Amino acid sequence: MEPRLILTVALLISATVTADYIRPLPRKTLQFPWDPKPSSYPQQVHISLAGEQHMRISWITDDKSSPSIVEYGTSPGRYDTAAQGESTFYNYMLYRSGKIHHTVIGPLEHNTVYFYRCGGQGLELQFKTPPSQFPITFAVAGDLGQTGWTKSTLDHIDQCKYDVHLLPGDLSYADYLQHRWDTFGNLVQPLASGRPWMVTQGNHEKESILLLKDGFASYNARWKMPFEESGSSSNLYYSFEVAGVHIIMLGSYADYDEHSDQYRWLKDDLSKVDRRRTPWLLVLFHVPWYNSNKAHQGEGNKMMAAMEPLLYAASVDIVLAGHVHAYERVKRVNNGKSDPCGAVHITIGDGGNSEGLAHKYMNPQPEWSVFREASFGHGELKIVNSTHAFWSWHRNDDDEPVKSDQIWITSLVSSECIAQNRHELRKILMAP
Ligand SMILES: *[C@@H]1O[C@H](CO)[C@@H](O)[C@H](O)[C@H]1NC(C)=O
Repeated sequence: MEPRLILTVALLISATVTADYIRPLPRKTLQFPWDPKPSSYPQQVHISLAGEQHMRISWITDDKSSPSIVEYGTSPGRYDTAAQGESTFYNYMLYRSGKIHHTVIGPLEHNTVYFYRCGGQGLELQFKTPPSQFPITFAVAGDLGQTGWTKSTLDHIDQCKYDVHLLPGDLSYADYLQHRWDTFGNLVQPLASGRPWMVTQGNHEKESILLLKDGFASYNARWKMPFEESGSSSNLYYSFEVAGVHIIMLGSYADYDEHSDQYRWLKDDLSKVDRRRTPWLLVLFHVPWYNSNKAHQGEGNKMMAAMEPLLYAASVDIVLAGHVHAYERVKRVNNGKSDPCGAVHITIGDGGNSEGLAHKYMNPQPEWSVFREASFGHGELKIVNSTHAFWSWHRNDDDEPVKSDQIWITSLVSSECIAQNRHELRKILMAP
């Protein structure tokens, strides 16, 4: 059969299986018309949490002499405070980046709208700080890219009331073409300048060239995360706390064996978690450990073997991953099978990238897999209080934010698991 015919037949079959749902085709990469701005005009603005009640404001100017200053205040047009930051740039083969500014501002009030301006000129922007306590809502979408589906996903996220965006890797799909980092930065600015975007790296951020370029040069320069604030020596793994949630961002593409820096840092970070202060413990990384899609099957196994015993002993509540271009939710699991003291694993790598969806699944569906579907969309995690959280997945179906999977998740704080695992955790944390 001709490929197109096979595809049509496959679509018809899947349409009859899921009755009212017809799976969408990939959409084209967006075209960005040339939109010249004065060289000192701040572009690609995004913000991220930077330690207790502080926010890092990041933006880029073509002008290398533009100051790294942020002016801000709680009323429009009135900036009673200003902060000076740092800047960097990078070269990548023939490409020269603009001046990349990172300026930390604060202390800031919780749950408050701030108006701000970067570099002493340009547009006034605004963001809202997260609340100090529950409830708090996270928007989650990985493997974004910059296609028509990315735009659809971002539009849907924009309609939801959320406090922080979590991104488990694969941002721009620049894939060596550095100007695509710039178009991505401008594409996400309307959202990423208004709520903190907390990201970790995926394979598409690596962009290493043998003997010429180390990995993650562009990603690290542009998307600086609070690794120093969380005692990490690498932008590829860090943690932060917000409103009763401790969130650990791990690096699927940094060393993770038990002698690695990342593992040592993770032990140190977990030893500081206080479940009375942060009853919820979340972990994000790019390559899923529990995945019943045929795409990237088994790729996370080595990292899982190295790190799962530690995460299990620490009673992690939820693990969010990307990489596979589909959605899958898994029961509480550990060591390859369901376990009431393990983490709920969710793969949400369906933000809208140009590579399309991953349709092929392992059959029969493993005992631990609850819900799986190859569609573009995003997730929302509303943590209601110390014991209850509501997770929902919204597929972009026909550009309506359809809610396709939803579940209440209860925290391990309300179980016996933490007490049960206390000795095991201490043993691992004390090991040299
Ligand atoms: C937490 O939220 C859930 C769901 O709304 C509710 O049933 C429960 O009573 C709440 N617990 C506390 C301690 O408020």
